[in-house]
Amino acid sequence: MSNTAQLILDGKTYELPVIEGTEHERAIDISKLRSLTGGVTTIDPGYKNTGATKSAITFLDGEKGILRYRGYSIGYSIEELAERSTFLEVAYLLIYGELPNEEQFSSWKSEITMHTMVHEEIKNILDGFPSNAHPMGVLSSLVSALTAFYPKSLDPNRSIKQVDLSIARIIAKMPTIAAWAFKNEIGHPVNYPDNTLDYCENFIKMMFATPAETYSVDPVVSDALNKLLILHADHEQNCSTSTVRIVGSSQASLYSSISAGISALWGPLHGGANQAVIEMLEGIKSSGGDTKKYLDKAKDKNDPFRLMGFGHRVYKNFDPRATIIKKAADGVLAKLGVNDPVLDIARGLEEAALKDEYFVSRKLYPNVDFYSGIIYRAMGIPTEMFTVMFTLGRLPGWIAQWKEMRENNEPIGRPRQVYTGHNSRPYMELGER
Ligand code: MLT
Repeated sequence: MSNTAQLILDGKTYELPVIEGTEHERAIDISKLRSLTGGVTTIDPGYKNTGATKSAITFLDGEKGILRYRGYSIGYSIEELAERSTFLEVAYLLIYGELPNEEQFSSWKSEITMHTMVHEEIKNILDGFPSNAHPMGVLSSLVSALTAFYPKSLDPNRSIKQVDLSIARIIAKMPTIAAWAFKNEIGHPVNYPDNTLDYCENFIKMMFATPAETYSVDPVVSDALNKLLILHADHEQNCSTSTVRIVGSSQASLYSSISAGISALWGPLHGGANQAVIEMLEGIKSSGGDTKKYLDKAKDKNDPFRLMGFGHRVYKNFDPRATIIKKAADGVLAKLGVNDPVLDIARGLEEAALKDEYFVSRKLYPNVDFYSGIIYRAMGIPTEMFTVMFTLGRLPGWIAQWKEMRENNEPIGRPRQVYTGHNSRPYMELGER
């Protein structure tokens, strides 16, 4: 296979290098294109054909349904991370490149546990938000506000030790801030972290415990949460991750880059997808619960109805994360004995679509958003918190990608454009316009 590509432009031939990744994916290197051609650029709205970086963190093959973190598979055998490890181990793997040994893991866990509390004044900022504030807005603001409490974190070049401290702090504090954003919304007092619990249990307790009752965490729920967070931990150069990398490329701090990532994830086309699934199911329920009618509507090109949570932007055959999460969803629903007509509709829709030739032939299978929405609802997590749950999961991926970008000394992100506006024109006085 050739390691150069030829571009013929205006009768002139340019040789462009072709680079190959460790999984043999190939890319034409156009980094010298403008200087070679005297200013010609490429255009690729949404960057669907553009590799923005070389990365050694996550490998994804959408055609084959493969997702691997640092070489470890998500979705095939019982060797997979989601079945065998904890979210904190996976976070370490993504950020530092290897699964931790016992000693590394124990010091990583105690580092995280030590930083679970947030500064008391964060509560004053939280109190300033109206109670109907969307928790994603609260989360992104409070993460950005961390820069005020840890000013040394502002300089990403300060020292490796300082960067590691900022990393441990944000992983430790995110569940506290997320649970507090929820408590603000429902008007309950916030719960402080309980460091006798593990990462997932602690978050669940901060979410659901009230001063009025004793609370114990259901292991089925914390186990399902552990899996969900692992499955969402990274997904190579998706919208929020690319945002984190591009914000960080200006040498903005870790916390401000993550805050920008949270805003990117908030959008319904990205992290808001599992919320859209539940809203669709509620819509089906309130109009009588006829799933067949909605499957027919989904098939009708002239009908604006869209079946949410089926198919995927990058997985063209199946979503490897969905296989694991479907199993967890079955377990959670069975063990919690949840009786919820909306979840019955989800089951009916899933079964009918998986048997329907239209959906099967188009590979429109339920994706991770479909099942994660179901599990979160069964756990009692309100719909507007779903994207917050996604944030908790994606955090180590954002950190790993930010850190890799910094360590590789990547230049500031600065895309080009093809200008389509007016050519030069003279200024007109106000009265002449
Ligand atoms: C993700 O996990 O980030 C989403 O599936 C979206 C994506 O990868 O584009």
